[in-house]
Amino acid sequence: MILKNVDLKKYNTFGVSVNSDRFATFSSLDELEQILAKRNKSKILVLGGGSNILFTKDFKGFVIKNEIKGFEITNRKNNNVYVKVGAGEIWHEFVMKCIDLGFAGVENLSLIPGSVGASPMQNIGAYGVEVKDLFLELEAYNIESRKLKIFSKEECEFGYRDSIFKNKLKDKYIILSVTYKLDLKHKINSSYGAIQDELKKNGIINPTIKDISDAVIKIRSHKLPNPKKIGNAGSFFKNPIVDKKILYDIEKKYNKIPNYPISEKKFKLAAGWLIEQAGWKGKKIENYGVHKNQALVLVNYSDAKGIDILKLSNQIINDVKEKFGVILEREVNIL
Ligand code: FAD
Ligand code: EPU
Repeated sequence: MILKNVDLKKYNTFGVSVNSDRFATFSSLDELEQILAKRNKSKILVLGGGSNILFTKDFKGFVIKNEIKGFEITNRKNNNVYVKVGAGEIWHEFVMKCIDLGFAGVENLSLIPGSVGASPMQNIGAYGVEVKDLFLELEAYNIESRKLKIFSKEECEFGYRDSIFKNKLKDKYIILSVTYKLDLKHKINSSYGAIQDELKKNGIINPTIKDISDAVIKIRSHKLPNPKKIGNAGSFFKNPIVDKKILYDIEKKYNKIPNYPISEKKFKLAAGWLIEQAGWKGKKIENYGVHKNQALVLVNYSDAKGIDILKLSNQIINDVKEKFGVILEREVNIL
């Protein structure tokens, strides 16, 4: 059923209220095609959990929410199991299912909000793992040609919080399912300092994938605001990748800045640190602001407007540029 004039407040984790001309859900390719047949030339926005979107204005077009379900083991080879998952499945529920079944590789990505279909969009990542590390292929529907296509890992052109679907193929495809390659022989990735600290605190020496997932859930619940209580979309900005010289210049003026080498010449800086040093952490402007525990996260305390949150992000970008000569890029999709 296609609804008219729908408030999208409950469909985005920022909790921003904007109107959509048309709204529909689909749980199969057939239903998707029926909706697309009625759209004429209207714009389309595919929505998963709405956890990486900031709406700044009403949406003049069709918002279509992906609810395609499914969890199918398609192959078992050597020590791997291949699982094809419907794009409308909830990411964290998929992770929990893998852990119950003893399928390893996805545990570090516990508690990331959103849908399976959006996981390749920005190559979601956390605690030393990115979706590309367990990605096999995805199936997507071309909105114009109406043809299905399988994308291999190489074809997705994954990068840090990036893929071809945010660039060359933006708004061209609807992801219907994703196939992941998981491990039956567990290789634990506890390289991230915070995970090690959490395991140590609990006296765990040989962690299982469930132990890693529990540790990640604990760390995340402590640091990141729960969107059910405070509107947000996780990290608003990406961590910037800069030349060695910029890092050295900052180090000359400030105490140690958290950084991670990417190559001999390039370093990733912690945007949260830059924003905190620029004095924005915990700042509250009317009913929105910068989170008190994590300066990378912008928050909506009640009925803030998306446009005001966007303006705040511009002020932060300008300030960080002026103080450190570093240009922050937004991670969240602005609409
Ligand atoms: P949406 O917000 O609904 O959509 C995001 C984009 O993908 C939109 O452009 C949309 O049009 C497009 N899209 C969605 N589904 C499809 C589809 N099936 N086909 C084609 N296009 C589609 N991200 C991380 O990487 N790491 C983290 O640690 C992390 N932590 C977070 C913590 C919190 C508290 C929150 C609120 C967010 C966090 N995020 C994190 C961001 C977010 O959870 C991820 O980007 C997630 O993958 C978004 O999924 P979604 O279904 O909500 O996508
Ligand atoms: N930091 C500060 N002040 C802050 C926040 C962070 O100084 O207010 C410092 C921390 O002390 C630490 C460093 O910055 O030294 C990194 O902080 P943290 O480990 O919290 O990670 P992050 O870089 O802020 C990134 C991802 C998160 C992901 C975590 C864990 C990006 C943009 N963000 O955050 O992803 O969950 O690492 O891997 O890469 C998301 O993308 O939405 C997201 C939440």
